[in-house]
Amino acid sequence: ISLKNYNTFGIDVKAKRFVTIHSVAELQDLLSREKELFLLSGGSNMLLTHDIEKLVVHIDIKGISIENEDENFVEITVNAGENWHELVLWCVENNYGGIENLSLIPGKVGTCPIQNIGAYGVEVKDTITKVTVVEIETGKLKTFTNKECKFGYRDSIFKNDQKDSIIIVAVSFRLSKKNHVFHTSYGAIETELTSQKIDFPTLKHISDAVIAIRKSKLPDPKELGNSGSFFKNPVISSNHFEKLLQKFPTIPNYKVSETEVKIPAGWLIEQSGFKGKRFGNCGVHEKQALVLVNYGNASGVEILNLAKKIQETILEKFQIELEIEVNIIS
Ligand code: EPU
Repeated sequence: ISLKNYNTFGIDVKAKRFVTIHSVAELQDLLSREKELFLLSGGSNMLLTHDIEKLVVHIDIKGISIENEDENFVEITVNAGENWHELVLWCVENNYGGIENLSLIPGKVGTCPIQNIGAYGVEVKDTITKVTVVEIETGKLKTFTNKECKFGYRDSIFKNDQKDSIIIVAVSFRLSKKNHVFHTSYGAIETELTSQKIDFPTLKHISDAVIAIRKSKLPDPKELGNSGSFFKNPVISSNHFEKLLQKFPTIPNYKVSETEVKIPAGWLIEQSGFKGKRFGNCGVHEKQALVLVNYGNASGVEILNLAKKIQETILEKFQIELEIEVNIIS
């Protein structure tokens, strides 16, 4: 079957064998027979560059349950196949606070810990209490505490040590029921709330603001194939930054430590003239240069070649190595 509808980039590669899994028991049964699997969840953070020979396993385990609850907090466990944005809306509706800034991120719950999804001043690691997995080798259930997940900026143990040895089946979150901590410091949220004269925001206000900002900048994968930010925002040394500042006085920057500075990759790409440019079937989004888009029939290789061209240009112009954030399947 074609995997075009199973990856947000809309890349048309084929799978020889494909199976949808609805429960942990089904998954364990499968693992007793097959170990060479290709996992597919929301397909929102991958670039497929060829047909898949292995058995493609689409994790579609549904369900949300309340694990613990007191006056102030609730801990919920959400199965991997739940849609991320629908979970955010459900939490907002129930007045559970913590993930409202992460509204409208494509993908499913099971993959949110892998790259520690983040936006507008919040990362999902701030609310995750544990991640439940099935071990591929043994078929056994196992849990990783927040600490054991080794979360970092767009990073976790599931991208590194545990990359090919586990399958995430559920994620647990601790959310506030009152005295919510609102993260409105990210410029665009403030502006959005002020323009609507909202002085005392609710979870719904924040979620709506984020949805409006994302819609104004980021392409909807249903209309234009993409995988969100294609690169990570690079961190460079303060020395390197000082040198660049001489040449590029308006370079935006965020201090990460006494010796390091983070630079928005979108700015570097825009300064290099790529923003809004089309190259054959793919291109660089016109409103957010960090997003590569598929105009319909691009192959994964075509998109990867554009990414390489961007990386080379940035290296030459700014002496910065841009790291790809999307999982390249090659
Ligand atoms: N910028 C430009 N030109 C562009 C895009 C950005 O000059 O075309 C500069 C501007 O100075 C702007 C700054 O970059 O102020 C930051 O831009 P933006 O707020 O759009 O955020 P970002 O750093 O480009 C990151 C995440 C996004 C997340 C936003 C908001 C990464 C790799 N990306 O992008 O995450 O939504 O912040 O928090 O950290 C994703 O990972 O898929 C993703 C969309």
